[in-house]
Amino acid sequence: MENKKADFLKKFDMIRDLPSLPAIVMKVNQMLDDPYTTIDSLSKVIEKDQAIVVKMLVLVNSPFFGLREEISSVKEAAIVLGFDAIRNIIVSLSTFKALNNITKDQCCDQFKIEAFWKHSIGVAVLSKHLSDRSNNADPEKCFVGGLLHDMGKLLTAYYFMDEFKRVYELARTEKLIYRDAERAVIPVFHNEIGYFLAKKWKLPTHLTNTIYAHHGIKVGSSTFEEDIIVNTADGIINSYIPDFLNNNTSPGKIIGRYFEPSAHKKMRLWIESSSKWFPEVKIIIHDACNFFLGK
Ligand SMILES: [Fe+2]
Ligand SMILES: [Fe+2]
Repeated sequence: MENKKADFLKKFDMIRDLPSLPAIVMKVNQMLDDPYTTIDSLSKVIEKDQAIVVKMLVLVNSPFFGLREEISSVKEAAIVLGFDAIRNIIVSLSTFKALNNITKDQCCDQFKIEAFWKHSIGVAVLSKHLSDRSNNADPEKCFVGGLLHDMGKLLTAYYFMDEFKRVYELARTEKLIYRDAERAVIPVFHNEIGYFLAKKWKLPTHLTNTIYAHHGIKVGSSTFEEDIIVNTADGIINSYIPDFLNNNTSPGKIIGRYFEPSAHKKMRLWIESSSKWFPEVKIIIHDACNFFLGK
């Protein structure tokens, strides 16, 4: 099995048109690892990419981001939100764009890109919301972790179309969760494929860890709190919003199999009361989808 896994990842690594990230992401990552970086020097670098500045300001001022004060410059955003939050916002916007570039190519009919993003954006918004409200984990880390947690599914669908179709059909006919169907078809799970590209992109460690651990939370890991939140948000979104990958034929009630046991245990009160508060979050998710999907 380990050999098959290594072979599969080698095949993936050799794909020539894997998406790349804009240089600014690497530069911002480097600067944030340097203790001498100042708000001024960071702002100057980000301001060179006006397209990302505009998107970033719209994002931080949107109602779904939940800030009370209006932010009008990169410098102000860095002061109010902090360096790490700025990095996570830039990573969210850039990776979303890079992954969308792949989707210009033709995919199989079974993969519904818009539904895929609606799920991911839903998990991102709900992860941030749960983190804010429960005072657990870092809200912006949770947002970007939620946005990218399933990117391995998108990569499978576009680069390993036949395998994706087999996983999809098996999950549909046997009423399985996607990752259980994956087990029978591909030697590598979507969390490992996502992790592989995230590593190649040199994304921050918290993010690569959360992508890897979103279905296999390790107690005591450095991203334990974020992993718990993202898995909880994933389970709640899958329970309430049916889509082509979750095989939920009776949406509206919590379905235990969508949650990791450690997340369910820790977030039990939030999960059990979700029917009361989820409708409000659904409106915020709708706004976020409009922002990212440009509706
Ligand atoms: Fe997943
Ligand atoms: Fe998911």
